Amino acid sequence: MNSYPILTNAMIAKDIYEMELSAPELAAVCKPGQFFNLYTGDGAMMLPRPISLCSADRENGVITLVYRAAGQGTALFSRLVPGNSLRVLGPLGNGFPLGKPGKAAIVGGGVGIPPLLELCKALAERGSGVTAFLGYRDETFLLGRFQKLGVETVTASETGGLDYKGNIIDLLKTRSDIKPDVFYACGPKPMFNALAEYVYRMDDPPALYVSLEERMACGFGACRGCAVKTVDGYKRVCKDGPVFEFRELEK
Ligand SMILES: Cc1cc2nc3c(=O)[nH]c(=O)nc-3n(C[C@H](O)[C@H](O)[C@H](O)COP(=O)(O)OP(=O)(O)OC[C@H]3O[C@@H](n4cnc5c(N)ncnc54)[C@H](O)[C@@H]3O)c2cc1C
Ligand code: FES
Repeated sequence: MNSYPILTNAMIAKDIYEMELSAPELAAVCKPGQFFNLYTGDGAMMLPRPISLCSADRENGVITLVYRAAGQGTALFSRLVPGNSLRVLGPLGNGFPLGKPGKAAIVGGGVGIPPLLELCKALAERGSGVTAFLGYRDETFLLGRFQKLGVETVTASETGGLDYKGNIIDLLKTRSDIKPDVFYACGPKPMFNALAEYVYRMDDPPALYVSLEERMACGFGACRGCAVKTVDGYKRVCKDGPVFEFRELEK
């Protein structure tokens, strides 16, 4: 674990913050879908907070993390300013399998959207055709970054004002013209369930990879606090995941 200087830390939507860290050795090795354990430095909050990689700039040695100020730990991160340092362990976890170039659909909901940005970049770089389905509560964030990658981007929000008013899976159902070879998703569990129901009803269903969020303690496989039941027995979300093929998971 090392300390890394904070370059920027700014609110980009209500309660959503984007933080850039100068961390060349992390930027050099991290993969889409991996995460970092961030330490608060507050003795009353010993456990680290897991936050996913949003994007990595290898050339400039910078990693970007986007997080919701959800409770005490993340609220503390939101008050850090450029020049402060943050203790970080990682990259952790397995990341998204990229597979062969083809057609990919990525489906993100809320703070499940940021981990999909680096994935989109990696898929586009290897020549895959990508459609990004992004579901927001109301205000958008990171949308311009997805659009800049040149991937097709479609958006939904519960409050309206985007491409579709409603949830992202209902929007996906209106786009049966898109027949991806693989789906990747990050977001809340009900979104995964609705997505799986849609995907597994397709003729010859493609693979569906989901990035799970479980409450974690150690973050590197030692405590088994984050175990989930799979068809091959219990697996640790932090070490064996956080990305799993949805079919592997016991419902
Ligand atoms: C692998 C992984 C990657 C993650 N990536 C991101 C990310 O990129 N951006 C982001 O905003 N959040 C991410 N999270 C969720 C984030 O870790 C939690 O929101 C954070 O730990 C909450 O800490 P806190 O001290 O602010 O809140 P607490 O006071 O501990 O809790 C506040 C709320 O957050 C919920 N929460 C706490 N821990 C988790 C957790 N591990 N997963 C889900 N909900 C939790 C609690 O149930 C509660 O409702 C990720 C979680 C995991 C496991
Ligand atoms: S958090 Fe300890 S094993 Fe996953």
